[in-house]
Amino acid sequence: MMLDVSSAEGMYIYGSDGKRYLDLNSGISVSSLGHRHPKVTKAIKDQVDNHMHTMVYGEHIQSPQTEYAKLLTSQLSHGLDNIYLLNSGSEAVEVAVKLAKRHTDRYEIIAAAGAYHGSTAAAEALRSDLEFTSAFRPAIPGIRHIRFNNYEDLEKITCRTACVIMELVQAESGVVTPDQDWLNAVRAKCTLTRTLLILDEIQTGFGRTGHLFAHQKYNIAPDILTIGKAMGGGMPISACVAPKEIMHSIADKPALGHITTFGGHPVCTASALATLQTLVEDKIIDDVLAKEQLIRSLLQHEIIAEVRSSGLMMAVEFKRRKYLKHVVNAALEGGALVDYFLFNDKSFRLAPPLIITEKQIKDGCDILLKAMDIAQAKYKR
Ligand SMILES: Cc1ncc(COP(=O)(O)O)c(C=O)c1O
Repeated sequence: MMLDVSSAEGMYIYGSDGKRYLDLNSGISVSSLGHRHPKVTKAIKDQVDNHMHTMVYGEHIQSPQTEYAKLLTSQLSHGLDNIYLLNSGSEAVEVAVKLAKRHTDRYEIIAAAGAYHGSTAAAEALRSDLEFTSAFRPAIPGIRHIRFNNYEDLEKITCRTACVIMELVQAESGVVTPDQDWLNAVRAKCTLTRTLLILDEIQTGFGRTGHLFAHQKYNIAPDILTIGKAMGGGMPISACVAPKEIMHSIADKPALGHITTFGGHPVCTASALATLQTLVEDKIIDDVLAKEQLIRSLLQHEIIAEVRSSGLMMAVEFKRRKYLKHVVNAALEGGALVDYFLFNDKSFRLAPPLIITEKQIKDGCDILLKAMDIAQAKYKR
């Protein structure tokens, strides 16, 4: 069954059949403020009434962009004071990699096994699944992989490495977080070899893990940060953030090292600005960790092997993979939306909007537990 969307409001998506579905997915970690948050829709409407596209990004000064840059950088440290606004997560990854190559004058790139960084040519080449990447050969050269928590692999980071790119919580592998000591060792090795550390916070950003950004939770300083998804409050926008001396290395020799027509589109950026203001001013992130604990305490079932989570980025893993599709389908029938991961066929994704209430958490968990009963019954004699 495929959901035919009629409208969406707050925590709910409404089907063309008139049925209401509790969104426990946020459109893959996008709708953190729920659907059509009033402050976000107002900002979008105001901006449409004011102006839309006037010129290719960077050629005109537009107040949503300058206001956004001020607010975002006020929430960051580690010298992350320059922001380049873009269209999608994949584009932000492309720019981060270009920036690292240009700044270091090196071309080797290290990514983590099991990572997902997007679907454009360079972003896709970072995947460790050779069966997948070989279908699009030749990939961009010089990419190697390290495994989470493997210290020997860190020897691959050398003075020839332009950047290490990684997620602090791997989303598509099913919410996998490396040990803190290993993360610290990655940071130290990057510093030692003057390799830039790119943290991809496209999925972990904007409160998903219980902190505004996951690197603030795990206390790891990025040299370059990529953000997207929840950034736009439902509108398409992303960005690459870095200290000025790194960001400006793409500005000349050659000039215009990256060009994007719609990057920082004023309507999307106005939406992003209202989203970030709301997250911060309404203290939306404050009770994310309590909500995570409530869900963990309610989701108890015989067929569950493990629940992995970082804030409201959660994976529910089953003892047997055959349960998965029955649970996802029965949850949909029951009126709750959960989804699959790209690289984990034993777990489903649970990433509700951060605004979910206690009552909605209880309702959602009830639906999920009933769906698990249905899946379990299918295999009982
Ligand atoms: C960690 C991460 N990086 C990059 C991307 C790519 O973003 P987009 O689909 O907006 O290009 C995704 C998308 O799922 C992601 O989860």
